[in-house]
Amino acid sequence: MTVHIGAQPGDIAETVLLPGDPYRAKWAADTFLTDVKLVNEVRGMLGFTGMWKGNRVTIHGSGMGMPSLSIYVNELIKDYGAKTLIRIGSCGGMQDSVKVRDVIVAMTATTLSTPSRGIFKELNFAPCADYSLLRAAADAAEAKGTATHVGGIYSSDVFYDERPDLTEQMTRHGILGVEMEAAELYNLAARHGRRALAVLTVSDHLLTGEALPSEDREKTFGDMVEIALEAAFA
Ligand code: HPA
Repeated sequence: MTVHIGAQPGDIAETVLLPGDPYRAKWAADTFLTDVKLVNEVRGMLGFTGMWKGNRVTIHGSGMGMPSLSIYVNELIKDYGAKTLIRIGSCGGMQDSVKVRDVIVAMTATTLSTPSRGIFKELNFAPCADYSLLRAAADAAEAKGTATHVGGIYSSDVFYDERPDLTEQMTRHGILGVEMEAAELYNLAARHGRRALAVLTVSDHLLTGEALPSEDREKTFGDMVEIALEAAFA
């Protein structure tokens, strides 16, 4: 047990999928895994371990934002030995070519700051995805026929953004979408020599104002879970 995870040693698989929402973790485990066991419920942050096509996998909520993700990922890596960590979540589209429901596989993540800022100080470290996972996820998405974009995203500290000028600059520089967790996942994976990736569904769009209807969310989230699982065990 750790401060934030009630799992026993050995309860967590080497491969961990990380949705922001703990109830998404439950839905994904119930939908895609067999032999599912609840391994954490401290503070309502649900984690489940089960089997997918003969492979052991944990699906654990990260919470929203990099400070929350940092707590869980530090403990999953340092105390439970997680080796492959894949964020599955939603993002806001930032290019006209990126449509609601499309999938983004995040090659790198731009930030204003992350919880690792204290270590990096004046250094602008470029957090990037594990290439083998990135390639496998892009292949899996293509095989499924899912409209997919591979490139840079923005990991923001705020959902209610007061800096439209920054959004404009990022769109100008080809950033595909905005979310709030991937950059620190990539920082932590780099620091500890683990594999990390973020696979994201475009749930809303900053340029068009369009949003994914709630009845479509489950299907698109399910596609993303399958892409992440296929990438993890490719
Ligand atoms: N901003 C930040 N995070 C998000 C968004 C957004 O517009 N959409 C989904 N996650």
